[in-house]
Amino acid sequence: MTVQPSVLLIAGSPSEQSRSSGLLDWVSQRLTQHGQTVDRLHIRELPAAALLLADWKHPALVRAIEQVARATVIVVATPVYKAAYSGVLKVFLDLLPQTALKGKTLLPLATGGSPHHMLALDYALRPVLQSLSARHILPGVYATDSQVPQSSGGAYEPGADISTRLDEAVSTLMTETFRLPATTGFEPVAFSRVRCSV
Ligand SMILES: Cc1cc2nc3c(=O)[nH]c(=O)nc-3n(C[C@H](O)[C@H](O)[C@H](O)COP(=O)(O)O)c2cc1C
Repeated sequence: MTVQPSVLLIAGSPSEQSRSSGLLDWVSQRLTQHGQTVDRLHIRELPAAALLLADWKHPALVRAIEQVARATVIVVATPVYKAAYSGVLKVFLDLLPQTALKGKTLLPLATGGSPHHMLALDYALRPVLQSLSARHILPGVYATDSQVPQSSGGAYEPGADISTRLDEAVSTLMTETFRLPATTGFEPVAFSRVRCSV
């Protein structure tokens, strides 16, 4: 029996026209093509004062936190700001309960102006996701601005290199995560039943 995971895409940029959200759009399309349904959360659309003042009882924040709770897979995208992830993403993550990501698989994505801060995903975002008890954090995908050009229609779309890497990440999600059995572990085996080969 396979689990039907619930996927949440979190957009962590304060910008409406956003390169990091362009990466999310690509992942969303691919997951949809694989038959997955995806939910979205744009942090910039949450009430700013409630976010900044950590008013976690605000109905919009309650709904957003519930979206996180429902998801089994979360793809989170952020711009690099001052060598780390965005402040709006941070204020949202700060609102989550300490074990909010327990049992969940995370795929982090980021865009930055230069390649110099590509490790921000690993040294800044990953420890925070880990501290929220994420079960599995997949290798992140980082793109520079030049790798996510604007199309003639105005949307940001990943170029060939990045779309290939995003496809690989989605493929990993499909094979490693979406086909997990309903139980997330093995039944304990009594020591008396363990057979040694020597
Ligand atoms: C306030 C601010 C700080 C930034 N800091 C960095 C940085 O430290 N390193 C970097 O590579 N790019 C930096 N950038 C560039 C953005 O990360 C980059 O343009 C990113 O693609 C924007 O993503 P978005 O369109 O999803 O917001 C910064 C941009 C802004 C507005």
